[in-house]
Amino acid sequence: MGKRIRVDKLLAHMGCGTRSEIKRAVKLGKVTVEGKIIKDSGIIVDPDHAIVSFEGVPVVYRDTVYFMLNKPQGVISATEDGRERTVIDLLHADDRLREPFPVGRLDKDTVGLLLLTNDGQLAHELLSPRKHVAKTYEATVQGNVGEEDIDQFKLGVTLDDGYVTLPADLQIIDREQRDNEMFSLISLTITEGKFHQVKRMFEAVGKKVVYLKRVSMGPLKLDETLPEGSYRELTEDEVEQLRLHRRAAE
Ligand code: URA
Repeated sequence: MGKRIRVDKLLAHMGCGTRSEIKRAVKLGKVTVEGKIIKDSGIIVDPDHAIVSFEGVPVVYRDTVYFMLNKPQGVISATEDGRERTVIDLLHADDRLREPFPVGRLDKDTVGLLLLTNDGQLAHELLSPRKHVAKTYEATVQGNVGEEDIDQFKLGVTLDDGYVTLPADLQIIDREQRDNEMFSLISLTITEGKFHQVKRMFEAVGKKVVYLKRVSMGPLKLDETLPEGSYRELTEDEVEQLRLHRRAAE
């Protein structure tokens, strides 16, 4: 037996709009199945074979998947590597078959939120430098991060290659002494994604990041109940939030 899916779910899945926008489009006669206008957005179709059109354009179904991984240290953000373990190695075999790839990169020693998907368009838009998708990190930084660093990060700091960063929001969460040395716990939100950007921003102000965790990317927040190394599918609501965010940034 073929797959079965509600037509509104199929259209939402393919990025045609939110479920309520799609319901409205159905009411307005903008959705056809096998060439006939449908009246009920809940009808069931086989997504691999049904000919569904939205506003006159045929919608080709692809089985997109979206996983939220709490990346552990020691694995690299790539799909394959001859020597190192990759984030794809953390997935169950069934999920690997759907060919997800990481949306952007976290360093080998960085932990936290990594989105994995096979939706190339969404990935491309989340990574586009023009969209300025906000990413928030929590970090432990050796040294005493202070007000002057907050001001510097707001203005932009000059990285080792001369690049001046966009304004970033630095917040000091706590400070602690370990073996007579001061460490600062901070949160940093940046809207770009240069190579090793957070570490290099702190290097630019003479400080060293010793622990780095990503906690959010655009509207997507790390599910703190996910142990490091675990992952889950995004909820429908999370996927919808990502799509809405993408459109808002257009
Ligand atoms: N900035 C870094 O320095 N490393 C990461 O993994 C992500 C952002």
